[in-house]
Amino acid sequence: MGEDYVRIFDTTLRDGEQAAGINLNTAEKLQIAHQLAAMGVDIIEAGFPAASPGDFEAVSTIAKEVKGPTIAGLARTRPEDIEAAYNAVKHAEKPRIHTFIATSDIHLEYKLKMDRKQVLEEIKRAVTQARSYVDDVEFSAEDASRSDLDFVVEAFKTAIECGATTINIPDTVGYALPVEFGDFVEEIIRRVDAPSNVIWSCHCHNDLGLAVANSLEAVKRGVRQVECTINGLGERAGNAAMEEIVMALKTKKGYFGVESRLNTKKLYHISKLVSQLTGFIVPPNKAIVGDNAFAHEAGIHQHGVLCNRATYEIMKPEDVGAPGSKLHLGKHSGKHAFTKRLEDLGFALSKEEIAHAFKLFKELCDKKEIVTDSDIEALVVDEILAV
Ligand code: KIV
Ligand code: ZN
Repeated sequence: MGEDYVRIFDTTLRDGEQAAGINLNTAEKLQIAHQLAAMGVDIIEAGFPAASPGDFEAVSTIAKEVKGPTIAGLARTRPEDIEAAYNAVKHAEKPRIHTFIATSDIHLEYKLKMDRKQVLEEIKRAVTQARSYVDDVEFSAEDASRSDLDFVVEAFKTAIECGATTINIPDTVGYALPVEFGDFVEEIIRRVDAPSNVIWSCHCHNDLGLAVANSLEAVKRGVRQVECTINGLGERAGNAAMEEIVMALKTKKGYFGVESRLNTKKLYHISKLVSQLTGFIVPPNKAIVGDNAFAHEAGIHQHGVLCNRATYEIMKPEDVGAPGSKLHLGKHSGKHAFTKRLEDLGFALSKEEIAHAFKLFKELCDKKEIVTDSDIEALVVDEILAV
């Protein structure tokens, strides 16, 4: 039996691009896909080939050029979608067709206008068609978390009987709560009782800000593929953020007992790249990759970090490829951090001079929103050394 680990299925180029306001061209998608591959992502969902000629081209280019990860194309259960997905991914080293249909009553009644029997027929036909093209087929029950449990179980059993080997449980509208979603996932896994070659997956949206928490709970209950995006991009409030999932698994390995295989040192760089290409700014306080994720301002915190970083840092910035811990100097800062900054700037001042400079610095902080290193240099040169 192989090593137990969590497969990272990146859907930045598909669900991520579905975020209102994002539109990536093929060259941009290819650039991101190469970085995802270099980071060791297991599966890249490169797009939805039937959605537009541009999407088809992007998926097919990535399938031809990006080596390492499995390349997946999304498809509704329609025959023409599955054919387009196949034609787009067929040149990949490891091609996957990812087909989906909704299973919740609200989607069946208002969107699909189908009954449950018809949905099961669709699943049978679609998965069988996809398997006639490729060995690796994923099936998703859209809106699973708002679907009737018995029906989802039936849908998944049908997909597995027809040859799907990855079964995805989406919380499409981000409606689930962590323990609720965990119970749901666990019960599905128990009842479906799939053969050991089947990988269980989750796909959580962030409408209640719980996408990462729900995904982690699903891992705890047996899921071994997590669908996520860089910076949490995606429909509405987005998808589960890859950097948060991966670092939670790494930081709390003892709790989960499993990790991903990603090279986490590349997370910061790829976050910046995706932000730059999409135009979606990463908030400074964003976990893992935000500019403030390893910045300390309060004097007590700065003193702690100067003595031992672990006092206020549960991860090392270098583990995510971030530039390093920052001691941000502001009105909350203490003399330890200020003294260290003076040393870093090349000043060797006496105790009294430092005390005087620190007083002037605090006064400046009340007047100016951002006090830069140049401000500190000017303060020391003009007010301390010149007298
Ligand atoms: O949110 C969702 O249910 C999806 C599926 C296509 C997996 O994106
Ligand atoms: Zn989604």
